[in-house]
Amino acid sequence: MLKSVNPTQTAAWKALQSHFEQTKNVTIKELFAADPKRAEKFALTFDDQIFVDFSKNRITAETLTKLQALAKECDLTGAIKAMYSGKKINRTEDRAVLHIALRNLSNTPITVDGKNVMEDVNAVLAKMKSFSQRVISGEWKGYTGKAITDVVNIGIGGSDLGPYMITEALRPYKNHLNMHFVSNVDGTQMVETLKKLDPATTLFLVASKTFTTQETMTNAMSARDWLLKAAKQDAAVAKHFVALSTNAKEVSAFGIDTANMFEFWDWVGGRYSSWSAIGLSIALSIGYDNFEQLLAGAHAIDKHFAETAPEKNIPVILALIGLWYNNFYGSETEAILPYDQYMHRFAAYFQQGNMESNGKYVDRNGNKVDYETGPIIWGEPGTNGQHAFYQLIHQGTKLIPADFIAPAISHNPLGDHHPKLLSNFFAQTEALAFGKTKEEVEKEFVAAGKKLDDVKFTVPFKVFEGNRPTNSILLREITPYSLGALIAIYEHKIFTQGVILNIFSFDQWGVELGKQLAGRILPELDGDKAVSSHDSSTNALINLYKAWR
Ligand code: F6P
Repeated sequence: MLKSVNPTQTAAWKALQSHFEQTKNVTIKELFAADPKRAEKFALTFDDQIFVDFSKNRITAETLTKLQALAKECDLTGAIKAMYSGKKINRTEDRAVLHIALRNLSNTPITVDGKNVMEDVNAVLAKMKSFSQRVISGEWKGYTGKAITDVVNIGIGGSDLGPYMITEALRPYKNHLNMHFVSNVDGTQMVETLKKLDPATTLFLVASKTFTTQETMTNAMSARDWLLKAAKQDAAVAKHFVALSTNAKEVSAFGIDTANMFEFWDWVGGRYSSWSAIGLSIALSIGYDNFEQLLAGAHAIDKHFAETAPEKNIPVILALIGLWYNNFYGSETEAILPYDQYMHRFAAYFQQGNMESNGKYVDRNGNKVDYETGPIIWGEPGTNGQHAFYQLIHQGTKLIPADFIAPAISHNPLGDHHPKLLSNFFAQTEALAFGKTKEEVEKEFVAAGKKLDDVKFTVPFKVFEGNRPTNSILLREITPYSLGALIAIYEHKIFTQGVILNIFSFDQWGVELGKQLAGRILPELDGDKAVSSHDSSTNALINLYKAWR
């Protein structure tokens, strides 16, 4: 079980509070000026693949020491041990939390309820391997005897975001199979996807941990109708539908043979499930060996996280820095900004990863917290973001800590595109940290032949205060291994923050109420009878919808 410690009541928190009061006005520029070795001291490298520079932050060595003391008082080490050994740390659902077992390529036994879960994990991985090989090679045939050309993953949330993000990020490793992802219950997404497809050569993966999610079940039914309309034989379903789920009962009730089911278990959280059977679309898209490399990268970080001292521990350092801004500077949001087009869904993926995990206001004792928990996560690929929202990051009134992520080697070395992209990556964090002073602005005007009196009005608008914190995460190249490692870094960052914030990071009760109410409203949308069972606003909206449709 996880200890329950109110972080704000710890000695470390109190020490951090006074440290914050003393240091809050020190600028990043001053910190660099005071220590020529700062960049060296505030950076870590993982496996010669991922370099994390956290020097451009409003932190000193003392800040980090104090934050590490906080992690210690909140028993982070005990929490890591509890998670890795299969303890039921997801207490509100009475479940273990073992995404680390899904990528435990060392195969050390991990026990839940007296059973070594590695046996089942390995059996499903073997099934995924042989199935993906059969589909990719063309040995798996559709109902007309043709090989599969298109794969549609039907899922939502954790059963969509991870597989979609990862298959996009690893496009350079793709084979001939065309991948499609349908998540929204808005029929538009299914209709537009099916328009491009031939039922005889399309394979549907129905990805749902519970196999009861409204969006996914509705989309799966429509896909099945579409297939059967063309195939005119129920037997076709077995050749074109497989299920990725924990719920064998619902899978067979849907009409999918459980022989075509790839199982996972209740100790895999939806937003941590890409490593499980939910990752079948990834294995199909890039081949099983590459999928295994993804697992290998994550496994290497799992070891790093469990075995490395806090001061050299990448997920721990990133977690502590995030917490520092959110709770002491009141920064509220964190931006994730990948300078890699293939990574265009990375921020969206960790929006769920972080916000569904740590967006909680009740602590592990059941009490309302009196401090900040999870931050708002957002972001888009650079350099598009630069021409959209960076203005506010540079000169707005809000403090927005940001992670800049880029590969040194591009998969598409077209002309000088990559040096240009990376020059922006380097320039942005420099500009955010060091800004531009009034004197520098004036000097530029003078150099451009202007008289200072003529430009006096414009000067303040061109001044950049700087002192805006960033982490720079430079990958050698985006490969299955390095991406697996990067994802695991963020996962463990979120875990570390959840432990310190004394919340349960692996449930998501907050999404239930909306689902329940939607279930209640759906039958009320039938017929023309006016609805009066809700508040006046909801009644009016429903009744206007009925009038307008
Ligand atoms: O509604 C939230 C959620 O439960 C997520 O946690 C999950 O990833 C998603 O729905 C999909 O759930 P399922 O895989 O059971 O369809």
